Amino acid sequence: MSYPQHLTAGTNAPRSSGQPLVARARFPLLHNQPDLVYLDSAASAQKPDVVIDRLMRFYSGEYANIHRGLYPLSETATEAYDAARGRIARFLGADKDEIIFTHNATEGVNLVAHAFGDANLRPGDLILTTLLEHHANIVPWQLLKERRRLRLAAVPVDANGDLDLARYEMLLSREPKLVCVTAAANTIGTVTPLKKIIELAHRFGALVMVDAAQATPHFRLDVKDLDCDFLTITGHKLYGPDGIGALYVKESLLADLPPFMGGGGIIRSVTIDHTDFADGPRRFEAGTPAIGAAIAFGTALDFIDEIGFDAIAAHDACLTDYAAGRLAEIGGLKILGHPRQRIGILSFVMDGLHPHDIGTLLGESGVCIRAGHHCAQPLMEHFGVTGTARLSFGVHNTTHDVDRLVDSLARVRQMLR
Ligand SMILES: Cc1ncc(COP(=O)(O)O)c(C=O)c1O
Repeated sequence: MSYPQHLTAGTNAPRSSGQPLVARARFPLLHNQPDLVYLDSAASAQKPDVVIDRLMRFYSGEYANIHRGLYPLSETATEAYDAARGRIARFLGADKDEIIFTHNATEGVNLVAHAFGDANLRPGDLILTTLLEHHANIVPWQLLKERRRLRLAAVPVDANGDLDLARYEMLLSREPKLVCVTAAANTIGTVTPLKKIIELAHRFGALVMVDAAQATPHFRLDVKDLDCDFLTITGHKLYGPDGIGALYVKESLLADLPPFMGGGGIIRSVTIDHTDFADGPRRFEAGTPAIGAAIAFGTALDFIDEIGFDAIAAHDACLTDYAAGRLAEIGGLKILGHPRQRIGILSFVMDGLHPHDIGTLLGESGVCIRAGHHCAQPLMEHFGVTGTARLSFGVHNTTHDVDRLVDSLARVRQMLR
């Protein structure tokens, strides 16, 4: 399958964002459903043609298991899988040997909790998380806390939805061993001041685990520039396949981490009594990995880099401003959080309407948004709500999509009045 160039809107899309950054026709699902308004990329991004093509090509002409086969098909698949690891490393500014393939961002956090946490943290040690986190960056630390009898505290958030940095510094003075923080909040879009957070944590002797699942589709994160210790990403939010993610671990830490799971593919030699484990990231990749998904993940990163983060940021800002203005026209609607810097995400509540009812009725009119607690119940509690309706932008969205949402919301308001 190949797609004509004219279907690509390109990076010069007008800043009014009446045009998509990348034409809808480049996304087969959106092309096939021209009336669908997809405003749920924060949950999972639609897949562009090049990613689907790469999966098709791999499974129809290149598929074999990796590492073990000595025949050409397996060798070629192994090379493509290794090249994908290199592609992810380049995307994050990491070295190839610092990238562990996982199945999603959640697995990356759990891997650190088990491999690093179980081996290094002692009863009474403190872990800091924040109120902005997705449950993926809270629950694994609670489980670790129970296993190792640790302490867990959360950095609070102010009324705008920004982290309270003064309280953060106070908490650092209690000498936590690890700070677990998101680069961008999935609920209200807050971009956290990562560099400062990491610099302060290191000054107080703590390591930093970054949840970059939501940030990486929107802006560049360079792990060397940030100097973070662990960073987790997920393919399906980056226009890649589901079932694939990656964890960055700083080389100096990775060398000493014990394996997370036992099995094949991670060893140098095994006797009945003892295993010598492989060096580097392979030590953490037991069993047959998501080979095709890893390879197509690399393609998805090519897709993003071709668009460019400057264009993505401008597109996000334009659509978010436009949406905030249009939503303000609807009586009884309140946007939650006004952080200093945000990615293309807006959460809102409407007087007298349950977010689930909003989401369901919008869905019936072909508008896809997310409604509920967004796996961030501590933040919902902070704002005094049980859930919100959330819209989030991808590179195919336009102001027309926002208009369709606002028209449908006005109808929802009428129906449920
Ligand atoms: C900020 C954040 N972290 C982690 C996750 C978990 O990602 P995954 O389900 O791919 O593991 C999500 C998913 O929505 C997220 O938004």
